[in-house]
Amino acid sequence: MPSHEFEEPPSLTQPVRGIVLAAGKGTRMRSNLPKVLHLLRGLPIIEHSLRSVLQATGNKPLIVVGQDAAAVRAAVGERADFAVQSEQLGTGHAVMQAEAALRGDPAQQFIITAADMPLVRAETLRHIAAERERSGAAIVMLTVVVNDPRGFGRVVRDAGGNVSAIVEEVACSPAQLKVNELNGAIYCVEAAWLWGALRRIQPNPRKGEYFLTDLVEIAVADGRTVRAIVGADVDECIGINTRVDLADADAALRRRINRAHMLNGVSIVDPATTYIDLDVTIGADTTILPNTHLLGRTRIGSVSVIGPDALLRDSVVGDGCEVCQSVLEEAQVDDGGGVGPFSHLREGAYVGQHAHVGNFGEMKKSRLGARSKMGHFSYLGDATVGEGVNIGAGAITCNYDGVRKNPTIIGDGAFIGSDTLLVAPVEVGANATTGAGAVVTKNVPPDSVAVGLPARVIRRKPPKSSDV
Ligand code: UD1
Ligand code: CA
Repeated sequence: MPSHEFEEPPSLTQPVRGIVLAAGKGTRMRSNLPKVLHLLRGLPIIEHSLRSVLQATGNKPLIVVGQDAAAVRAAVGERADFAVQSEQLGTGHAVMQAEAALRGDPAQQFIITAADMPLVRAETLRHIAAERERSGAAIVMLTVVVNDPRGFGRVVRDAGGNVSAIVEEVACSPAQLKVNELNGAIYCVEAAWLWGALRRIQPNPRKGEYFLTDLVEIAVADGRTVRAIVGADVDECIGINTRVDLADADAALRRRINRAHMLNGVSIVDPATTYIDLDVTIGADTTILPNTHLLGRTRIGSVSVIGPDALLRDSVVGDGCEVCQSVLEEAQVDDGGGVGPFSHLREGAYVGQHAHVGNFGEMKKSRLGARSKMGHFSYLGDATVGEGVNIGAGAITCNYDGVRKNPTIIGDGAFIGSDTLLVAPVEVGANATTGAGAVVTKNVPPDSVAVGLPARVIRRKPPKSSDV
């Protein structure tokens, strides 16, 4: 029983194509959402299998879809071809639905995977195909040896160690139930043999379904070899049938993602409470502190510190930044910028180089220029703030007049006094100052001081030394 630690993906000489089974009803999820569209680390379950198959084969797979065809097609788009299985008569029947589209396909072998096995790696699929090419077996399959049977089919081997059958749990004898080598439901099958063999599968007497797993006995009856590769990473064979499986898969995938980042030079203080989606990138020497969620297409630069308790979704953080106990959504923080503790950067928020927002600051569709500070209880909405600006405690933009959102512009070097209300649309010129509690309803010219309710200009300021 050879066990393989897959390293270098081998090259294949025979063309190969993927068939992904996704037509099952997913009853055990107890959900209105199709099973394969539930999210796993931020991506639909099927997206994971699709990417692995695309990467392993280099061409579009054929996805067998069922009652949820429209929703699955919408999620996958042009990256696959589709066949429809209108009645769910089992995994063998599902592959039969692919025949019309794939007969005459130049592929000499097919990788068959289940969409609900999202953790299988592209390299593993290539190894299975390479082993099939090398051995000339009718089928090479992935198995896993574990002590928890998970309801999986059991792998039966003959006295010589060759695979002779896969027996589904419902059909197992008491002795077979004790077998701890399980079917991973990932196969590479010779194309010339597949279609004829499928036609010989009989409906299972207990469930009335056509089990794909019966192909093993059919191959053996044909005098063909069936080889099994025992996967070294048991996580690859997590199949998602229930929401309990989904949580297990998420935990396993998180471990895998965190490990890859750590090996890439990112410090993760507590991997168990660090949640990083698949497409996130992080530069070297960045530290991720506990209870941090890096989601979607978030990108983090180098030598930054993120967390604790941070949630970043689809956001970009530069080099040398700090983000502490804050939420960022479609926001950007430039090099050296600081956020938090306790800030909320919403869509279109931009914090410039070495700028800082913290202590209950909120920003939406707003820019805070380089070296500007907004340290205490502030809100910027639809605002453009220049460089070197100080936004005093409690200052806010009143950007919404009940009908529309209006812009606020604050020039370089301005000083916005504590509790200033900027009633938009309004502009505060460069180097201007507003007094504490000012309600600014009209533009404040550059280099002037405005105070009161409504704010009035009370004096011009002497030019700054740098302006002379
Ligand atoms: C299947 C295998 C089992 C293996 C397990 C690993 C069979 C009979 N059993 O069991 O040996 O250990 O996977 O996860 O193959 N599907 C269709 N059409 C159908 C039925 C299923 O497209 O009519 C698809 C499902 O969407 C799913 C996959 O095939 O992606 C597997 O089906 P599922 O019912 O989940 O099989 P398991 O009981 O998990
Ligand atoms: Ca399954």
